[in-house]
Amino acid sequence: MTASIDRHAQTAVPIHPLLAARHSTRAFAPGVDLTDAQVAALLEAARWAPSAGNTQPWRFLLARRDTREFKRVLETLKPGNRDWAAQASALLVAVRTDANERGPLSHAMYDLGQAMAHLTFQAAAEGLTVRQMGGFDADALAAEFELAEPLVPTTVVAIGLPGDPADLDESVAGPDRAPRARIAIDDLLIHP
Ligand SMILES: Cc1cc2nc3c(=O)[nH]c(=O)nc-3n(C[C@H](O)[C@H](O)[C@H](O)COP(=O)(O)O)c2cc1C
Repeated sequence: MTASIDRHAQTAVPIHPLLAARHSTRAFAPGVDLTDAQVAALLEAARWAPSAGNTQPWRFLLARRDTREFKRVLETLKPGNRDWAAQASALLVAVRTDANERGPLSHAMYDLGQAMAHLTFQAAAEGLTVRQMGGFDADALAAEFELAEPLVPTTVVAIGLPGDPADLDESVAGPDRAPRARIAIDDLLIHP
């Protein structure tokens, strides 16, 4: 069963329908595998993000459900994320490289974020949902997968088909039922 709660953004002015519809759910339809075509499209969308000097400081570790890698990534999540993320079709570790052969990459974190924004948009276009997580042990994940500097695991991203929020544990269900909110544009603008 898919989510019946309307979590579309109530935008101040019309925006692209996929941007308005995209939201981060913790409810994933269990037992669903991503197709190779879906995975390829997600990574391709991330690959074509802009970056400082076209340095492309994003790297990805993809763990599909029902694999040993998936369990290894899952183990590094904070307990509050682990239960619901276990139902995702894949866990993608978004890794940045803080340097390349020419030196430090000062905008690596920013660029990785843009790549993930591209990926989430493509996911919406594929009918998939994505929830990014900062709630994981980056040191443990780096050790588990032998990721050494300048590689830094930055988020873990749960990807899958939207599920039914009614199936979520009560401890995490609240935000999936609540209306989505944003700071008003007036309050975002810095008036000189
Ligand atoms: C960098 C980053 C870290 C996040 N960490 C977590 C997390 O650890 N656990 C979680 O449930 N959601 C996490 N989220 C999801 C946000 O809470 C969510 O995107 C935000 O509440 C806005 O909701 P929306 O994406 O549905 O618009 C994270 C999102 C981002 C971008």
